[in-house]
Amino acid sequence: MDAQDAELFNDSLGRCLRTPEFLNRFYELFLASSDEVTRKFAHTDFRVQVRMLKGSLYLMMLASSGSSEMLSDLERVAKLHSRTEMDIRPELYDLWLDCLVQAVQQFDPLFDEGVERVWRLGLEPGIAFMKSRY
Ligand code: HEM
Repeated sequence: MDAQDAELFNDSLGRCLRTPEFLNRFYELFLASSDEVTRKFAHTDFRVQVRMLKGSLYLMMLASSGSSEMLSDLERVAKLHSRTEMDIRPELYDLWLDCLVQAVQQFDPLFDEGVERVWRLGLEPGIAFMKSRY
């Protein structure tokens, strides 16, 4: 991902986060996508969860630029999601990304193929990292 892609991703993220409904919509889509996901979030307070997701999207964006500070943060999050703790199977991350891209499509007025590409590209390193720690 070059600097231009990173800027496109960052700008799209900014446009989406301008509407608080964006992250709620993502969770709506994600929870509806699989019974396994619904079960995992059975006891979740989504007001807290939405704040966390916002933080982790920035974290993942840093991940794609290879910041070492982010790696230690994401390490803790990855351990929490791993099979010994919350047991989030690697396949669920693909679903996670698809739902996120769907929400972006609905909330970024400038959404197009290029925007979709940089979201997928930008989040790929963080997702690969999470999966590798399963
Ligand atoms: C790259 C993708 C993901 C990121 C960056 C991410 C990030 C996070 C973060 C930061 C937390 C809060 C951790 C804390 O308590 O400090 C969290 C909690 C959680 N995540 Fe993820 N997550 C991702 C994917 C997933 C997927 C695919 C699932 C599948 C169901 C999932 C299920 C959960 C659950 C169940 C919690 C706990 C919610 C609660 O507190 O009730 N996450 N996640």
